[in-house]
Amino acid sequence: MKKRLIEIRDEALSSIKGVSTPDEANALRVRYLGRKGEISTLLKGLGALDHNLRRELGQETNKVKTAIEEALNTRIKELQCALDRERLKKERIDTTLPGRKPYRAKLHPITTVMTEVEDIFTGLGFSIAEGPELELDYYNFESLNIPKDHPARDMQDTFYISKDLLLRTHTSPVQVRVMEAGKPPLRVIAPGTVYRRDSDVTHTPMFHQVEGFMVGSGVTFSNLKAVLTHFLETLFGEDVAVRFRPSFFPFTEPSAEVDIQCVICGGGGSTCRVCKGTGWLEILGAGMIHPNVFKSVGYDPETVSGFAFGLGIERIAMLKFGIDDIRLFFENDLRFITQF
Ligand code: PHE
Repeated sequence: MKKRLIEIRDEALSSIKGVSTPDEANALRVRYLGRKGEISTLLKGLGALDHNLRRELGQETNKVKTAIEEALNTRIKELQCALDRERLKKERIDTTLPGRKPYRAKLHPITTVMTEVEDIFTGLGFSIAEGPELELDYYNFESLNIPKDHPARDMQDTFYISKDLLLRTHTSPVQVRVMEAGKPPLRVIAPGTVYRRDSDVTHTPMFHQVEGFMVGSGVTFSNLKAVLTHFLETLFGEDVAVRFRPSFFPFTEPSAEVDIQCVICGGGGSTCRVCKGTGWLEILGAGMIHPNVFKSVGYDPETVSGFAFGLGIERIAMLKFGIDDIRLFFENDLRFITQF
């Protein structure tokens, strides 16, 4: 029996050396030291033995058990260390990999065009003014010769906040605010956001306008034509053809709509989708400031005259960059807005 005990010990110790995972080691623990393991089974025969022999064998068994136990623990520790080393090797950060390029910010195409428009007018001596986007009915309509119930209010579908408060539908109220606060001569542009209840491929509920006006003694329609022609030639190129067409705005008289030759087909395309075959593109509204507007700011229309115009920045950006859906400007898809 003693011999068998030594056999079991040697067999166990050599098996333990051969295991390659902690799980395998634990399986050996069950096999040798478990309740139904090799040693327990061997000890079943102990009861039949002589008292002294039994004690001797008992002590011997404990030594063997301890030896196996220690061998198992040592092996498991070794294996665990090896596993840890392996894991650390895998998780190591490779500092030689090239880094990711940081994203270089760019101006939004609307900002770019807005700045370009502002530069042209400040180059002509115009200064820049701003007005509130949350506007009084008085400034947006009433003072601009658009009384309540005037059919011209239907031209612009308005977001009303209350009876007297609204989101401005155009930048023209800034004309009135600036004239009220100052005295002629004035040469001012007013860039900003405006709001209309409208949404399709060429309209968004919020868009950008630049208003401009020049007021003084002896300002004429010729001045209007000269300034706007210079502006459009600078923006679209010296060769662009410009056309003034009679139109109507309540706050200007006479009024005009200004067209440029189609920048897509060059004016000859009977099938052009952008100008719809007309060869011309409407680009801004303008006119001589209406006497009633001067009266509402306390200017004498007999001694003061002036012109005003308003243009949409998105429309200009669409034509300049050949974009056919205005909504792309406001979806903030970097693939789109980084192209310009
Ligand atoms: N406010 C007009 C619009 O939004 C444009 C305009 C401005 C026309 C100034 C004439 C003079 O359509």
